[in-house]
Parts: sequence; C-alpha cells; structure tokens
Amino acid sequence: MDNRKTQKIVRGAYSKIAQKQKGCGCGTCGPDAEEFAKSIGYSEAELKAIPDEANLALSCGNPTALASLKKGESVLDLGSGAGFDCFLAATKVGQNGKVIGVDMTPEMIEKARDNAKKDGAKNVEFRLGEIENLPVADNTVDVVISNCVINLSADKPRVFGEIYRVLKPGGRIAISDIALKKELPRKIQENIDAYIGCIGGAILIDKYERMIKASGFENVKITAKRSSACVDPNIEDPMGRAILDGLKKNESLADYAVSIYVEGNK
Ligand SMILES: C[S@@+](CC[C@H](N)C(=O)[O-])C[C@H]1O[C@@H](n2cnc3c(N)ncnc32)[C@H](O)[C@@H]1O
Repeated sequence: MDNRKTQKIVRGAYSKIAQKQKGCGCGTCGPDAEEFAKSIGYSEAELKAIPDEANLALSCGNPTALASLKKGESVLDLGSGAGFDCFLAATKVGQNGKVIGVDMTPEMIEKARDNAKKDGAKNVEFRLGEIENLPVADNTVDVVISNCVINLSADKPRVFGEIYRVLKPGGRIAISDIALKKELPRKIQENIDAYIGCIGGAILIDKYERMIKASGFENVKITAKRSSACVDPNIEDPMGRAILDGLKKNESLADYAVSIYVEGNK
C-alpha cells in the first residue's frame, strides 16, 4: 500500500477514535484511561493536573517524565491527540515556556483545543499538520516529544529529518514508541487494523536506532520498557483480533513488540 493511502486510513481511524472519546488504538481497546495511564508511568498527581478528556488511553509511555523539561523551554509534541502530554509539558515549562502539539486528524485537534480552552492553558497551541511535514520553523524548538505515533508513520526517516530541522542546535528528543525485537509474522504485517493498533508499522529496534543516527542525531539511546505496555491486545476489538490472529499458538505479542524510550541530541 502506498504511503498516502496508509496515512489516509490511519487518519480515518483516529478521527473515529477522537469522536468516540475513549477508543481503541495502540493495541488496546476500552481500558480505564486513568488506570492504563498509571500502568505506563503517569503519576496520580500528573493526571490530576491535566484535563480528564485529554487522556484517551492511546499512549505507550510517559515522555514528559523522562524529558527533564525546564521552565521556559519550547516543546513540540508529534501526534498530540487530545493534548495529553502537551498539557503535562505545559505545567513543566511554565508560563514563559511554550508547547506546540501537531496532529493530522482535525477531530483530535478540535478536541485538544477544547481541552485547552476548558483548562485555561495559555502556553499550549495545537496545529493541524503531518509529522512528515511539520508546520514549525527551523531551529526553534528545545525538545521534541512524541507518544506512540512514529510507528504509525509510513515515512519514518522523513519524520526524523523534520525533527532535526525544527530542533535548535543541542536540542533533544524524548520519544515513547513501539518497536520490534524480531520481525512480525507476515499476517500481522499485512493487516491494516494491526497497523492502526500501533503494531503493524513498528520497526526493529536496531533499524530505529540506525535511522535516527542517519538523520544526524548524537547521543542516541534507546531503552526498552515494559513489553506489555500499549501492547495488550483484546480479542474483542478489531485491532486486538488482527494481532492475536497472526500469532502462533503459545506466542504472545510481547515476544515481538516492546515499548521503547528514545533519547538523542541535535
Ligand atoms: C496512538 S495516538 C497517540 C496520541 C497521543 N500522543 C497520546 O499519547 O494520547 C496517535 C495520534 O497520532 C496522530 N497521527 C498519526 N500519524 C500521524 C502523522 N503522520 N502526522 C500527524 N499526526 C499523526 C493520530 O491522529 C493520533 O492522534
């Protein structure tokens, strides 16, 4: 399938997820959003500090916890969804800092902007756009964060090229994503529901690291986190079924996929 077609399907799926409020994505379906967030590293205090509706249970880590954000920094969140990590980042960079969320799904942007209005957040802005063509000027951002999104891109090298372009010299990345320990069975690779569920588009950890280094990043470090976070397929939903149907007996998705945390500097 060509890249534009894949992106159109992904956008359609996340548009439906946005409209359903809580939904199925990232290999999960219908978990309690708060419990799910705690299981992947968000504290109760963090969750209390942001609008409830921002957490759609679509994440696979807590990039803001690991990004060491400082007051006054500018942060860009790729695939910001309903604004979950943007609102957290905003509390950390303070009023002199700035957070921009970019998402290609208009319904997600609308939801995030509504959340910002309700929250009275003044230092957060949401822009409609693709992470392969970031609507952000060169050399303007201190930190790029992202949570369970880059696996969904059909052109990942281009995403890292764009991240490099918008970061200030010395700027850093703090990214949560899904990657593979070994190649997925073909049946899963070819299933679009598994792709939407943040598994089918995931690439091998080694390849991920080589790709980031090839974009020019230094001090690249990839840490594998809990293998089950964001990778807990549920047979009741199409994404979970697409994944489980592709596994052999006695196999689990955790044999293949893992949540990773990615660091590096421009
Ligand atoms: C799994 S959700 C994660 C949302 C958010 N980061 C969170 O943790 O709640 C993926 C999000 O990325 C967006 N997305 C996927 N591919 C994208 C692309 N190529 N450009 C911009 N946004 C994209 C989707 O619209 C969706 O909101």
